[in-house]
Amino acid sequence: MVASWNAETTADEVAEYLSSEIKNKNVLITGASLGGLGGEAARVVAKHADLVILAGRDQEKLDQTVAFIKGENPTANLRTVVMDLDSLASVKAAAATVNSWTDSPIHVLINNAAVKLPKELTLSEDIEYQFHGNFLAHYLFTNLILGRIKAAASADFFPRIVNVSSSAHRYTPVRFEDYNFSDGSYSQFSAYGQSKTANILFTVELAKRYAKDGILSFSLHPGVISTPGAQSLKKERIALGTIDKDGNPKPGSQPRKSLSAGTATHIVAAFDPAIKGQSGAYLSDCQVHNDLAAPHAVDPENAAKLWALAEKLVGQTFA
Ligand SMILES: NC(=O)c1ccc[n+]([C@@H]2O[C@H](COP(=O)([O-])OP(=O)(O)OC[C@H]3O[C@@H](n4cnc5c(N)ncnc54)[C@H](OP(=O)(O)O)[C@@H]3O)[C@@H](O)[C@H]2O)c1
Repeated sequence: MVASWNAETTADEVAEYLSSEIKNKNVLITGASLGGLGGEAARVVAKHADLVILAGRDQEKLDQTVAFIKGENPTANLRTVVMDLDSLASVKAAAATVNSWTDSPIHVLINNAAVKLPKELTLSEDIEYQFHGNFLAHYLFTNLILGRIKAAASADFFPRIVNVSSSAHRYTPVRFEDYNFSDGSYSQFSAYGQSKTANILFTVELAKRYAKDGILSFSLHPGVISTPGAQSLKKERIALGTIDKDGNPKPGSQPRKSLSAGTATHIVAAFDPAIKGQSGAYLSDCQVHNDLAAPHAVDPENAAKLWALAEKLVGQTFA
């Protein structure tokens, strides 16, 4: 990556620079709603890529993103697929649709979507809501479409799986003995932290398992960005002491990024050839920052343990 890229570098700048890497690629992005990081990543990538597949839980919202991107870029080649991360049946149906597009290998998968942070402990299909939506559903989707990802590999191209995590992974390791918080210690941010730790561990294990197939994987923290998801948590973030009542970051907290700067690290992780020897790495502010990943999130034993737990929870094994 370019040494001068930092927290202020925009996704458009990175994509312009990496245009030749994005060219001719098919890219699938989950959580591609307007105003969020997924929608912005889709807008930016669509300027250069062959095909962008937008995944989301709501067809109407996907259509809005498509209309917005087409408004700016009428020749953008876009497809949509409905996938509700709250339901593994919906994930399987979405994977079947993607697998039916046999003419379209997936060069890059960006697992970006994140579900809401319930105030009270909530289960989805008997599993804590965010662990299920942010991690397990993406785990299943990724593995179910792996054939399409492998199909993109060649002697000189290594497909990528990017998992969007958060610095909030530091709050909580994966609680292997009690991922459902049945001990009464639930808080929405500790559950968010557990799910974001799982995103990084998933990356570590993907990098290890699928190196033999030429597949790379990266995780990242995008920064702090005022997306719809972040705005819905304003009260909680004031209580947590990270922002003041006007929504501005408190001194010592991470500065707020623009939507485009918040999406720049997605583009680096997805396309920068300079990091291809560092599969499994954690990125922040457009740079590899393994130093910012908590030990509990990169421990190879935890990564293998999480994979085994996920296989048990989805009732399917993956090589
Ligand atoms: N913004 C930040 O400051 C920040 C900081 C650190 C990490 N992140 C990470 O960055 C990623 C993108 O976040 P964002 O800020 O852009 O969030 P966002 O505005 O809340 O967008 C989240 C996306 O996930 C989708 N989603 C929610 N529930 C879903 C479900 N059940 N099934 C399928 N899709 C679902 C949303 O769809 P709808 O539009 O239909 O709700 C939306 O497209 C997330 O992984 C988040 O953890 C963000």
